[in-house]
Amino acid sequence: MSHQRSYRVAVLGGDGIGPEVVDVALEVVRASGVVIETTHFELGAARYLRDGFVLDDATVEELRRFDAILLGAVGPAIGDTRIPGGVLERGLLLRLRFALDLYINYRPFRGVAGSIAEGSEFAIVRENTEGPYAGEGGILRYGTAHEVATQGSVNTRFGVERCVRHAFARATQSRQAKLTLVHKTNVLTFAGDLWSRVVAEVGAEFSNVEVDYHHVDAACIYLVESPERYGVIVTDNLFGDILSDLAGAVTGGIGYAASANLNPDKTGPSLFEPVHGAAHDIAGTGRANPLAAVSSAALMLEHLGEVDAANRITRAVQEFNGDVSLGTASITQEIVGRL
Ligand code: IPM
Ligand code: MN
Repeated sequence: MSHQRSYRVAVLGGDGIGPEVVDVALEVVRASGVVIETTHFELGAARYLRDGFVLDDATVEELRRFDAILLGAVGPAIGDTRIPGGVLERGLLLRLRFALDLYINYRPFRGVAGSIAEGSEFAIVRENTEGPYAGEGGILRYGTAHEVATQGSVNTRFGVERCVRHAFARATQSRQAKLTLVHKTNVLTFAGDLWSRVVAEVGAEFSNVEVDYHHVDAACIYLVESPERYGVIVTDNLFGDILSDLAGAVTGGIGYAASANLNPDKTGPSLFEPVHGAAHDIAGTGRANPLAAVSSAALMLEHLGEVDAANRITRAVQEFNGDVSLGTASITQEIVGRL
């Protein structure tokens, strides 16, 4: 390690297994030799239930000053109806994605031994600030027999282009040098047309990248039947959300799936989080699989420029490739021991 700078990391452990898996991730980062200084923020379902607080401008501004944000998982237990849907999702997670302009959701996958997609490696580059997530729409004549609910999908040339450009840049560097646009251009003819044209235009600058297109429904079949078709998948916010759960399932379960909510321009911190949820049912039992959080921390180090440490952690996770029923503590020992 040529330099010994210390990174300021905001830690949002969250709910359920979130704090446990994030603790493991921090332990692994420290074992890799990277120096971090952490500040914990209590945000999420438990905090909301205690004092009604989700997130405010001052906290967003405070978070903006960190080098990175590491999040565990946020959400109430299944069946707990005290928090209306959207309060935490829109109020916390999406608010951070929008406020910090985390316009890429990067989710790399690698099929572990015994999984449907064993041996295949691909990534989803999901647009992370637009589409149906943008919040366009509303309800008219609420609660009447004539009510109207609209929820539009926002697709700007600026937003689509910066996402597609990021995906091509990743595809260029990937083993397969292949990019697949996933959309539903036969039905979503307006948004699909914009995405297709932008992929064609930007693709002209990346002549070494093979470009393909799949409808999202067909992509669901291919991900299960022939995942090796994929290198980098680029897609909109909602399709990317759905496809990344499917991709997680076929590559070994979302217990492994890591994600990076990136501000590639580095005008502020990026946010790293496992794809899985809070899993309250196993919280505190020592059974949580911390590998998704560990891999998310590796993505954080890569983004911070600590590529060597990131690669060592990723390699340790891959080599372990193992029995996640061992429990959190044993898995942690396995990873730390390989660093
Ligand atoms: C994800 C999650 C979020 C999303 C939810 C919690 C808002 O499912 O990160 O994939 O839909 O983006
Ligand atoms: Mn999701």
